[in-house]
This record gives sequence, C-alpha cells and structure tokens, in this order.
Amino acid sequence: MHLLRYITIASISMLLLPACNEPDAEAPAPQAKRFSPVVPGNLATAVPYPEHNPFTEEGVTLGRMLFYDPVLSANNELSCASCHQQDKAFSDGEALTSIGVSGKQLKRHAPALINLAWMKGLFWDGGAKDIESLAFGPLTHPDEMGQNLKELVLELQSQEKYRKQFRLAFGTDTITSARVAQALAQFQRTLISANSRYDKYVRGESGGHLAEQELQGMALFKQHCASCHATDFFTDNSYHNNGLDSTYSEDFEALAFGRGRISRQQQDIGKYKTPTLRNIQLTAPYMHDGRFATLEEVLDHYRTGVTWSVSLAPELQQNGNLGIPITQEEKKKIILFLNTLTDEDFVQNKALSNPY
Ligand code: HEC
Ligand code: HEC
Repeated sequence: MHLLRYITIASISMLLLPACNEPDAEAPAPQAKRFSPVVPGNLATAVPYPEHNPFTEEGVTLGRMLFYDPVLSANNELSCASCHQQDKAFSDGEALTSIGVSGKQLKRHAPALINLAWMKGLFWDGGAKDIESLAFGPLTHPDEMGQNLKELVLELQSQEKYRKQFRLAFGTDTITSARVAQALAQFQRTLISANSRYDKYVRGESGGHLAEQELQGMALFKQHCASCHATDFFTDNSYHNNGLDSTYSEDFEALAFGRGRISRQQQDIGKYKTPTLRNIQLTAPYMHDGRFATLEEVLDHYRTGVTWSVSLAPELQQNGNLGIPITQEEKKKIILFLNTLTDEDFVQNKALSNPY
C-alpha cells in the first residue's frame, strides 16, 4: 500500500502542478540571485534543472530550511533529514525504518540522496519522475510525515522567517505547497558528490592517489560491475533484476514487483533502479529492502547468492552460471575500491547541513 499511495500522490501532484504554471505563478523573485551550482568536471558540465524552477540562492536556502524542519510532519517531530541524514550521505542507516508518524514499518529502504539532479527516475522503481512532485509523497504519506498540505501551508505562513524567505525566493509571501516542493527540489539538486579520492584520482588532482590493490579493484569493478553501475555517476539510470529473489509477492499492491508495478510489463517484475555506489561505505544497509548489512554480504550475493527468475539480468547468468565469478581475493579488492568513493567533503559540507 505504501508505495502505491506514494506514487499515486506523486502522479496526482504532477497533474496538478501545470495548473500553477501560469505566467509568474511559480517564478523566482526577480531580484533573487540566480546561480549554477559548481560541478566537478568528471561528473558533468552543469547541473540540470527544469525551466520552471531555476536555482536561486534564496530558493536553495529556503529548501534547506524546509528539508531540516520537523514542522513539515504532522507531529512536528520528523524532518526529511530524519530519514536522509548528511553523515550517512542522506540515508538513514536502517533497513526499513518505522520512524514515520504512524510508527508502521516502511516497505522500502531509504536511499541515499546523491546527484539526484541527473537521475532519470526517482524511487527504487522510478515511480516518481521529478524531484518537485516527489516531495508530496513523503510529506503526505501516513506512514511517513503524514502531513495535511493545507495545514502545512498555514503553519509555515504563521512564521515570520518563512514569510520572509518565501518572499525573497518567490517574490511573494503567499506560501503554496507547490513552492514548498520547488524550494525543496532546488536544495536537493545541490546534493552533489564528486570529490572522493577516486574523483581526485580521475581528475589527476593532489590527494588522488589510489593504492595498487584499489587500482586492481577498480579494474575488476569495470569488468564485472560497471555495465550497470556505469559512468562516474555509478548508475546507468536503468532498471535491472540483480537476482535477489526468485518469487515476487503480490501483497501490498504488488510492491515486490519493483519496476514491473510501474511499467506493468511482465519482463520488469523484480527489476529495480541501479543505485549509485558513491559513498557506499556510509550508506549501509543495502538494496531496496536493506537486506544486506555489509559490502561483504553484497559481494557474496553477487558471487554465490544470485537466484534465477525470468527477468534476471543477462550479466548475472553467463555461460549458464548464476552470479559473477570473483574470488575471495578479488572481492576484497573490489571493496577496497568501493571505499575510495567516500566523499568527506560531501558529508561535511556546511552548505548542506542542518541550518538550525
Ligand atoms: C520516514 C522516513 C522518510 C522521510 C521522513 C522522508 N523520506 Fe525520502 N525516502 C524514504 C524512503 C523509504 C524512500 C524510498 C521509497 C521508494 O523508493 O519506494 C525515500 C526516497 C526518497 C527520494 C528518492 C531518491 C532516489 O534515489 O530515488 C527522495 C528524493 C526523497 N526520498 C526525498 C525526501 C524529502 C524531500 C523528504 C521530506 C519532504 C523525505 N524524503 C522524507 C524515507 C523517508
Ligand atoms: C545487471 C546489473 C548490475 C550488475 C552487473 C551489478 N549490479 Fe549492483 N546493483 C544493481 C541493482 C539493480 C541494484 C539494486 C537492487 C535492489 O535493491 O533490488 C544493485 C545494488 C547494488 C548495491 C547496493 C547499493 C545500495 O545503495 O543499496 C551494491 C553495493 C552493488 N550493487 C554493488 C555491485 C558490485 C560491486 C557489482 C560487481 C561485482 C555489481 N553491483 C554488479 C545492478 C547491478
């Protein structure tokens, strides 16, 4: 149920949003300072954003205030950052959290929020298309923030600091849930990570030294993993079945169908979005349900735990063998390489931290 609601709300809001697209309705304040977030060269040349929601300094500041403010939840106890914590690269360290206002356990693991601006689909199954509309999912879902949007707008409207910041960002202190979503999205598009030791190595910068074993791990990674965890985003922005399960329950609105529930295609059942592997050392536990506690367990899954079903990725069933043929030695080297993707600047960046 969790996700279907999630998606339905997300798509309904997408239907509603264009209504606000009348001239100036969502436009930034004329005097708001436009800017382009800095992107390290090996990642991209610029940060993409939708035309109707350009970056402004005031908008990003507002988004950051909102992201960290428990006023967003029905019980005023939960902010976005409760489940997306900076020191964990904006994940939560839980397999399936029950921190939401209802206290009910969620059915999917809270992913890290990294380089979202470039992501083609959001949520594990790609069920949300853009960062703006996605916000209405966690905001209103009864097992997450359980918020009534009208009440949220009134609560924000009653605070001078928000009236002021909405005026600075959007040129009006009339607060709307669409503007809340826009500001949150602007902030989330600045969650850019590409300053790990690996990145410095790629860019030939000082501090970019990789040891022999890490380089061997990188070569193994390119050979066995990079077809899906591709490019310096470490994702191909696509959906695959990496062999976690062999049967898929129809319970809970067929949530376990993964991508198949969104595309309604038989061949997509059991597929999930390839997650980025940036900061993977900080984002345990792993997979859409957080079933693996460590990277050792993940690698052992690829080595010996892959199970067959119709949609299993071809990469994981070569020459009639299930899984990826790597030795214990190679496994260690791959993990050493993955640990070079940890970006301390990202998790310590003051501009992304709790402003309160
Ligand atoms: C109670 C925990 C919880 C709270 C609070 C929460 N989230 Fe999440 N978030 C999740 C879970 C779980 C998912 C994965 C849902 C799925 O994929 O089906 C998720 C997914 C996301 C994603 C998709 C990331 C990706 O890689 O696809 C974004 C973006 C996001 N949340 C932003 C937010 C924002 C913004 C807020 C505050 C308005 C918020 N979240 C509040 C648990 C939470
Ligand atoms: C066929 C595509 C594919 C290949 C090849 C592949 N992966 Fe994955 N990987 C995925 C998908 C899809 C997921 C998410 C699956 C899920 O949660 O249901 C994933 C998840 C992961 C995760 C968990 C990430 C997180 O945030 O929870 C790690 C770590 C990982 N893979 C590492 C590797 C390594 C290392 C290799 C090579 C040995 C590899 N993968 C090969 C597609 C692939």
